[in-house]
Amino acid sequence: MNTIECIKSRRSIRKYKPDPIDHSMIDSIVSAASYSPSWKNTQITRYIAIEDPSIIGKITEEFTYEHNAGIIKQAPMLIAVTFLKGRSGFERDGSYTTKKGDRWQMFDAGIASQSFCLAAQEYGLGTVIMGIFDENGISGLLELPEDQELAALIAVGYPDHEPEAPNRKSVEDLLQYR
Ligand SMILES: Cc1cc2nc3c(=O)[nH]c(=O)nc-3n(C[C@H](O)[C@H](O)[C@H](O)COP(=O)(O)O)c2cc1C
Repeated sequence: MNTIECIKSRRSIRKYKPDPIDHSMIDSIVSAASYSPSWKNTQITRYIAIEDPSIIGKITEEFTYEHNAGIIKQAPMLIAVTFLKGRSGFERDGSYTTKKGDRWQMFDAGIASQSFCLAAQEYGLGTVIMGIFDENGISGLLELPEDQELAALIAVGYPDHEPEAPNRKSVEDLLQYR
C-alpha cells in the first residue's frame, strides 16, 4: 500500500471481529510509530495495550460513555496512549519554550497516534481514536505514574465493517497560498 492510499483509505473502525491480535504485530506497529517526529526527538509517547477483560469491563462500565463503551466492548484490544510530561515544549528548567505552553505534548502524542493507526492499517487492522473518557478514572485504573498523562484511547481489531469516508472539505477550503 502506498502512503497516499494508506492515508486516504484509513477509516475509523467501530465494529471488530473477535479474533485476537498477535503481540508481534502490535510490536511492529509501535516500532513504526516510534519513527514519528517529536519535539527535539523527545519521543514522549507511550502505549499500554489492554486485553484484560476486567480492565476493559471497568473502562466500559465506569469510565466512558455509551457510544465509546459499545466500541471498546467488542474490540480485542484497547491502546491507552500516554505521554511523559514536562519534556515536549519545555526547557530544561521547566519553563515553556513557546507561547503554546504544554500543548506540544498532545501534538506529539497526536502525531504518534496517527502513525500507529496508519501502521495498523498496513497490517490489516482497524482502529478508532477516542477522546471522550474519564481521564482521572482510567489513569487511576491503569496506575499511570505521576510523570505520565493519558492522551487518548485507540480501539484495535480486525474490521467487521467497511464504513464510507465521512465528507472531506475541499482543498480550496483548506489551503491558501500567499
Ligand atoms: C482526537 C480525536 C478524538 C476522537 N474521539 C472519538 C470518540 O470519542 N469516539 C468515536 O467514535 N470517534 C472518535 N474520533 C474519530 C472521529 O470521529 C473520526 O476520525 C472522524 O469522524 C473522521 O472519520 P474517519 O476517521 O473514518 O476518517 C476521534 C478522532 C480524533 C482525531
